[in-house]
Amino acid sequence: MNHLAVINSRAQTGIHAPPVTVEVHLSSGLPGLSIVGMPETAVRESKDRVRSAIITNQFKFPLNRITISLAPADLPKEGGRYDLAIAIGILAASSQIRTNGLGGMEFLGELSLAGELKPVRGALPAAMAVRDTGRCLVLPAANAAEAALVNDVELLPSDHLLRICAHLNGIEPLQPGAASMARQTDVRYKDLADVHGQYMARRALEIAAAGGHGMLMIGPPGTGKTMLAERMPGILPPMTEQQALESAAITSISQQGFDARLWQQRPIRSPHHTASAVALVGGGSTPRPGEISLAHHGVLFLDELPEFSRQVLEVLREPMESGSICISRAARQTRFPAEFQLLAAMNPCPCGYLGDNRNRCQCSEDFIRRYRQRISGPLLDRIDLHVDVPNITRELLDDNLQTTPECSAAVRNRVICAHAIQMSRQGKCNARMDSSEVKKHCHIDEQSREMLRNAVDRLGLSSRGLHRVLKVARTIADLANDPAITARHVQEAVTLRRLDRSL
Ligand SMILES: Nc1ncnc2c1ncn2[C@@H]1O[C@H](COP(=O)(O)OP(=O)(O)OP(=O)(O)O)[C@@H](O)[C@H]1O
Ligand SMILES: [Mg+2]
Repeated sequence: MNHLAVINSRAQTGIHAPPVTVEVHLSSGLPGLSIVGMPETAVRESKDRVRSAIITNQFKFPLNRITISLAPADLPKEGGRYDLAIAIGILAASSQIRTNGLGGMEFLGELSLAGELKPVRGALPAAMAVRDTGRCLVLPAANAAEAALVNDVELLPSDHLLRICAHLNGIEPLQPGAASMARQTDVRYKDLADVHGQYMARRALEIAAAGGHGMLMIGPPGTGKTMLAERMPGILPPMTEQQALESAAITSISQQGFDARLWQQRPIRSPHHTASAVALVGGGSTPRPGEISLAHHGVLFLDELPEFSRQVLEVLREPMESGSICISRAARQTRFPAEFQLLAAMNPCPCGYLGDNRNRCQCSEDFIRRYRQRISGPLLDRIDLHVDVPNITRELLDDNLQTTPECSAAVRNRVICAHAIQMSRQGKCNARMDSSEVKKHCHIDEQSREMLRNAVDRLGLSSRGLHRVLKVARTIADLANDPAITARHVQEAVTLRRLDRSL
């Protein structure tokens, strides 16, 4: 009798799926089963599920002392994802299935008491990790579509322990999952052709998309702020394979679950202003990604920005700089990616009608100041573009909605060109340049320098604010395919920091 079996499986931490080996050892002694290697409640419960699954399928549950070790011991392990690996390990160690070829396979899945395979979270990151090892992955059929998004990985989806055993015993081979079968290529976004007027805001949106800049829209109710924000994903460059996989990996481990229809679609998340800090950045005893990670490679839209609690907004500061968020819970730390593009909207004053000549605003100056101060200076500093979205009902009426505004495809083409320039120059978008890169790539002439000197004095720009203006100017130059930043670009960049002027 072969007393020891070693089975490969995968844990899940953040969006990674580190390897776990499940060792099963049978020895003489009082019958019993113990699992070592920091198992949590769910893993301990897996004992009972595995025992039932083995017995109900007419296998023998070994009457030995069974020791199961999940290694490495310091990895957090949750859920029933190791059930299948443990069951296969017990059957292999007690010689009830053939063991040749097991080393080239990985097993993932939760078992029902009857031996059916139930889906697990994070099958996509697991498939990505297995691809790099060259092994094949045996996984629940319900997870197959998700894992099949990964190219070049051999998948053996199944819905029952018995079928997997039949495969291992050479009785009836499992059908390999077709690679990329779940991919949908028909990505649809709302179109900018629906938004009339608002040239300044449209221009700012294009600059934001081209350089990865955050943008705040300020305007009275019903002027198209939400409309503009919803159209942002449609003018961003198409996602690369790697970005699409990362984005899908996050939905794969999230509460909302994976949806193959969203493949390569840039996400837009609009959390309500009553959202808690945990909902926004993620958390929980088993850390789950929050809105900012669900918006990874897409857009995070904060409508009614001043209504968000200040505490909630403050937690955004760190991920906005680093592009990821680290969640610490007791002994474990989990890092989730969060490279989102921030869009925010607000009314100019509490009643919403300041500066609107038809509706008389009733707000006192002090009231307005307090309203705006709800957004902290440091957060505002991190938003590169502030732009007015005024009331344009009159123009709309005169125009009678006759003209067709430029469509998203045209804007997107310019964004793609500007994006390509940035990638070949510094390998990242302009908004993510650090100060040494700003120094290297954002040279300005004497005329621009003088203009900036004035702006610093007039607007009280912080050093960070100044760097942001330079980065925006760089993006404007890139959109014009201009290798050098000129005074015109700097001028436009300064104009697009509206709140620095009015506060
Ligand atoms: N520039 C515009 N072009 C075409 N339609 C517009 C425009 N602005 C507003 N609308 C119309 O008004 C509706 C409301 O626009 P939207 O929701 O974007 O306003 P908002 O600025 O977000 O307002 P609020 O401050 O109340 O959130 C749109 O659904 C659209 O029908
Ligand atoms: Mg709105």
